[in-house]
Amino acid sequence: MADMQAAPRKLLVTGGAGFIGSAVVRLAIARGYSVVNLDALTYAACLDNVASVADHPLYAFERADIRDGAALARIFETHAPDAVMHLAAESHVDRSIDGPAAFIETNVNGTFEMLNAARAHWDRQGRPAGFRFHHISTDEVYGSLGPTGQFTEDTPYAPNSPYSASKAASDHLVRAWHETYGLPVVVTNCSNNYGPFHFPEKLIPVVILKALAGAPIPVYGRGENVRDWLYVEDHADALLAVLERGDVGRTYNIGGENEARNIDIVQKICAILDRKRPKNTAHAEQIAFVADRPGHDLRYAIDPTRIRTELGWRPSVTLDEGLERTVGWYLDNEAWWRALQTRAGVGQRLGKVG
Ligand SMILES: NC(=O)c1ccc[n+]([C@@H]2O[C@H](COP(=O)([O-])OP(=O)(O)OC[C@H]3O[C@@H](n4cnc5c(N)ncnc54)[C@H](O)[C@@H]3O)[C@@H](O)[C@H]2O)c1
Repeated sequence: MADMQAAPRKLLVTGGAGFIGSAVVRLAIARGYSVVNLDALTYAACLDNVASVADHPLYAFERADIRDGAALARIFETHAPDAVMHLAAESHVDRSIDGPAAFIETNVNGTFEMLNAARAHWDRQGRPAGFRFHHISTDEVYGSLGPTGQFTEDTPYAPNSPYSASKAASDHLVRAWHETYGLPVVVTNCSNNYGPFHFPEKLIPVVILKALAGAPIPVYGRGENVRDWLYVEDHADALLAVLERGDVGRTYNIGGENEARNIDIVQKICAILDRKRPKNTAHAEQIAFVADRPGHDLRYAIDPTRIRTELGWRPSVTLDEGLERTVGWYLDNEAWWRALQTRAGVGQRLGKVG
């Protein structure tokens, strides 16, 4: 049964200057929530992602690190949120291979500090039943699938990268804070996102920007890896649905119902660019197969039955439509991505090991 509490009105969103967090912030403001965006502004952040709401009376920004318990205590006290949506994380698998420590510190220790601060706040407020700690996680915690099958919420955890292991650890902490202390949590595990404001080190923006630059388009291995792609604005919508209507203590998998091999994604993007930015040769001629990522999971796929049947939520954007919009957005927002391309590591091959 869905929880019948009134929807929380004041959200503390962590990681709201990142890719998905900023989509959540923009959508929540549009829906009338008041939002406090807590972000440390790491290399992956960009305040331009929330420029459209920066002057909105319902929006506030706090620059803070989720590993800093004293800063978190102050922010909870100052803003007294009704709910937390916890997205702040180190999120790039390739960087986790080269430098796993930051992933443990932010994703594990940072989540621990968030839980501690949220619990103290919830206690101080008299433990309101409508409070939520919504932990946003990934389907990568379930490991890799073969050619068939899908991840359900009961699939055993089997993370294969330092990134997914750190997210799995954080999921377990959230579960424990619910079981042990009664903190009203919900957890979501989502498949790969794409869309506007995607940081230019991730697959889809890399493909678009290399193609536009006339450079080789790197595809790991033979491009056979399969992901279940979800348009980021659909993810933000699903997250608010779970926050508002999800059962306390429950996990919801979120997927795009859009499985595709990496090579097919690359081909589709090249075909869109051939139409939108025609040149003498096909963009697909720039595709270059490169050494695979170590521990590269073959396939992820989400069984979306629970969120569909219990919360009535389904993705609204098809892969073809989402890619069309995304490519169009990058063509229209060159100043945004050019500024980010100068950040350390962007445009380089990371995570090869030895
Ligand atoms: N990108 C995906 O496809 C995907 C899929 C499923 C789940 N997720 C999860 O969604 C969340 C957001 O992912 P994203 O792709 O938007 O990430 P992102 O890297 O674009 O953004 C992360 C944000 O968190 C902030 N941050 C990082 N460390 C911090 C710290 N110590 N203190 C405070 N802020 C900090 C960064 O400054 C940045 O703004 C993550 O928890 C990720 O695991 C991502």
